[in-house]
Amino acid sequence: MAKMWAGRFKKEADSKVNDFNSSISFDARMYRQDIMGSIAHATMLGKTGIIAATEADKIVDGLTGILADLDSGALAFDPDAEDIHMFVEAELTKRLGDTGKRLHTARSRNDQVALDIRLYLRDAMKVVSENVRVLAETLCDLAEEHLDTIMPGYTHLQRAQPITFAHHLMAYASMLIRDLGRISDGVKRMNQNPLGSGALAGTTYPIDRQLTTQLLGFDAPVMNSLDGVSDRDFCIELGSAIATIMMHLSRFSEEIILWCSWEFKFLELDDAFATGSSIMPQKKNPDVAELVRGKTGRVYGDLMTLLSMMKSLPLAYNKDMQEDKEAIFDAIDTVNLCLTTFTPMLKTARVLKENMRAAAAKGFINATDCADYLVKKGLPFRDAYKITGTLVGICVDTGRTLETLPLSEYKALCDTFEEDVFEAIKLETCAMTRSALGGPARESVKAQISWAKEQLAAF
Ligand code: ARG
Repeated sequence: MAKMWAGRFKKEADSKVNDFNSSISFDARMYRQDIMGSIAHATMLGKTGIIAATEADKIVDGLTGILADLDSGALAFDPDAEDIHMFVEAELTKRLGDTGKRLHTARSRNDQVALDIRLYLRDAMKVVSENVRVLAETLCDLAEEHLDTIMPGYTHLQRAQPITFAHHLMAYASMLIRDLGRISDGVKRMNQNPLGSGALAGTTYPIDRQLTTQLLGFDAPVMNSLDGVSDRDFCIELGSAIATIMMHLSRFSEEIILWCSWEFKFLELDDAFATGSSIMPQKKNPDVAELVRGKTGRVYGDLMTLLSMMKSLPLAYNKDMQEDKEAIFDAIDTVNLCLTTFTPMLKTARVLKENMRAAAAKGFINATDCADYLVKKGLPFRDAYKITGTLVGICVDTGRTLETLPLSEYKALCDTFEEDVFEAIKLETCAMTRSALGGPARESVKAQISWAKEQLAAF
């Protein structure tokens, strides 16, 4: 196919350059946005009299037909077209002749691509948000079932203080709610119309940018044409929001992997969400969680691609920026794939409550509560801390726990101890009396769940 710029050139492009330059293999996915953008542009050209209203109507009809044919599969993408913009324009001209050639008046592929990617991301991020929301809701549902499921809470991966499984799950719900906020902030900043920026310096035609802004559902036109064609901040911002979601999924995955090990045995994955080994018959592997953890690196890579691509680029458009698409598309595809697999994996997993409780019962997870018991009876915390430490030491040396140590041994160290110490250090007491806002007590977690549901309703 002869190039649009054949008039200026004496030679055809080398076939390698053609392939190298081409982006249709990956930007074809923006065909709907490209056509919707062109429909708005043509409508504006007709309304302002830049082209005849009758021709604008024909262009809009022609574009609508192309969209329908691409949707139905009646029309296939031409891999020889350099990019989706060239493809749609060439197809329109094939269908309408000279009228089709008027579409690109007062426009450049530079503002066109800046428009398409924004429109595409606006749609695509709705899907990502919905997938995040579904996972967060799943967490709320699961938490409601596990308000009394005692488990060890950890710091340094050492058993620290007793919490509940619901409390643990709601920590992830909080992270996901922030992720949703990040997406909506990024989309809000992105939702400005670059169309009319032209190649870089706007245009001499009497275009109406407010009209295209309105037609395409943007909040405002981009205020500077150089910025309009060369800004990719929104790809970086949304890429970063996606990378953060992946980081959260990766932390959760790591825990699931640990919890599925024989050492923990807190969770058993449904057979449909686990895999076996080709050699070891006893194995049930958490491959899904491992892949989510692994793919997190890939999405970080996408973000790094975007940041590095933009570093030091002079104003305005540079072809480097064509590299934005594969990176942000991959980030979106990957996070969606991970979310839609992770959520049902979690939903179908069996929670092994007894093992969680048993793990909480060892490891002196109630030592803080033992010290607090003495404090509540009037001892200074540092003294109480020291006495409890000594008790733990005795237990470790003699293979016992704070629950099994007789009162006489408590009293030998400190006379303040009475029979009620055993009630105070019971795991249920320890978890359920941590009722301050944000804590693991039943009522406290219930409040977290209703708060989360309220937050989620806003997205
Ligand atoms: N395929 C190009 C991209 O994705 C479209 C813009 C081309 N503009 C240009 N001046 N070559 O960035």
